[in-house]
Amino acid sequence: MQVMHEDIDKILFTEDDLRARVSEMGHQITADHQGESLLVVSVLRGAAIFMADLVRNITLPLEMDYMAISSYGNGVKSSGIVRILKDLSSSVEGRHVLIAEDILDSGLTLSYLMRNLESRNPASIEVATLLRKKTRAQADIDCRYVGFECPDEFIVGYGLDYAERYRNLPYIGVLKKSVYC
Ligand code: XMP
Ligand code: MG
Repeated sequence: MQVMHEDIDKILFTEDDLRARVSEMGHQITADHQGESLLVVSVLRGAAIFMADLVRNITLPLEMDYMAISSYGNGVKSSGIVRILKDLSSSVEGRHVLIAEDILDSGLTLSYLMRNLESRNPASIEVATLLRKKTRAQADIDCRYVGFECPDEFIVGYGLDYAERYRNLPYIGVLKKSVYC
């Protein structure tokens, strides 16, 4: 039985749920990309834990690289402003790029990122997002791999934060409104 942090309203995905689903995603990605090598790009900081677990379930030659972009600041609503805080170290030209994202909400962050990477002439770009929020307005993004659909609530854990806290929770849960209201 998982002990729940006092700031969490309810657990959405347990450690076991996450392990099982991320493993399935890794195996699917492996099956879909036989004979290829991948450049797996993680969007810091939220996706770092997901990517670390995902790549250990992909049995293909791959490289890992990191980008940091910001659209949220310390708040809970998308600002609509996307800035590159840290760019990739490697070139994406001619590579099969797999973006590992933590959560797709309005889609602003990913659509910006995909346009940006597409302009660098990769062989292909695909997205693996751990979570996709059921929101009203979402940019039309082709996400080949989606871990879980999740409710439109503010969630934390397994890499996801509120004001840089809760990333280390091993499960994903809904943050109590009293924490940020
Ligand atoms: P957009 O709206 O651009 O947002 O798709 C994607 C980014 O926003 C962050 N985000 C969240 N972070 N709990 C979080 O901790 C959430 O419920 C949440 N919703 C969006 C996240 O950084 C994601 O990359
Ligand atoms: Mg993020």
